[in-house]
Amino acid sequence: MIRGAWGRDPLLPRAFSLLAVGPGGTADILAKTVGRGTALLERALPGAEVDVLGPLGSNFPEPQADTTDLLVAGGVGLPPLYMQAAVAADRRQVARSEMIYGGRGGDDLVLLREMEAMGLNLFLTTENGAVGTKGLVTKALEARLEHHRGTPIRVMGCGPNAMLWAVARLARDKGVPCFISLEEQMACGIGVCLGCAIPARSRPYRYVCSNGPVFDAADVLDVEVTAAPVAPAACPA
Ligand SMILES: Cc1cc2nc3c(=O)[nH]c(=O)nc-3n(C[C@H](O)[C@H](O)[C@H](O)COP(=O)(O)OP(=O)(O)OC[C@H]3O[C@@H](n4cnc5c(N)ncnc54)[C@H](O)[C@@H]3O)c2cc1C
Ligand code: FES
Repeated sequence: MIRGAWGRDPLLPRAFSLLAVGPGGTADILAKTVGRGTALLERALPGAEVDVLGPLGSNFPEPQADTTDLLVAGGVGLPPLYMQAAVAADRRQVARSEMIYGGRGGDDLVLLREMEAMGLNLFLTTENGAVGTKGLVTKALEARLEHHRGTPIRVMGCGPNAMLWAVARLARDKGVPCFISLEEQMACGIGVCLGCAIPARSRPYRYVCSNGPVFDAADVLDVEVTAAPVAPAACPA
């Protein structure tokens, strides 16, 4: 959760994923400007102070030597999957990872050279056909699921929620384990405000900030709301 020294407006910090962690406590993020908070961050000068609360939340499962991971990223959903691929590359397991990465146009696809340098297999899609295959990432995912049929695979997705639900349904229909990093508007980021509650199977509600953002899709896909959210144990109120 990041908040610049921008006074009272906007009041709440903004959620970002870690793209990479460097020596001496440094970290990289990839931020897309969509509103006031991100615009103010974009305008921050080198050396400007920001409040950072983190790292918070859950990770994707560790790479496994005998399993191929299909990493499905939409736009600025790239960072946690980029980090996942970097971990696999460090362990010399990157041949077991594929990045299926989509955006509206070519400008939405970044860090391509860096991912190629990792040795990562890239499958790119754009809605306007400017780069890679024309269409949505789900089209490319379908083809890769078919390619790997009958072998141990997992799907991991991060991007807009509509994309994630489509990815999770595709994986479910093929009987493939799937993990998705959900997006919700977050106020506190630590399980206190209840603002990011989503219905789940394992409990009536899970909190995207503290139980997630990465969930086993089987726990959260197509769950009906059956109860009102209640304060989690961590809530001091
Ligand atoms: C776990 C998590 C990780 C994220 N990681 C990244 C990242 O690595 N890079 C990145 O650029 N963005 C990331 N986001 C999204 C980022 O938090 C929002 O874009 C940011 O909060 C928008 O703030 P703003 O003040 O600029 O926009 P606002 O003025 O608050 O909103 C502008 C528009 O963006 C929408 N919006 C605001 N917050 C979110 C949100 N959390 N999810 C979806 N839509 C939102 C609003 O509905 C509105 O339409 C992440 C979000 C979550 C929950
Ligand atoms: S953002 Fe406050 S409980 Fe999740």
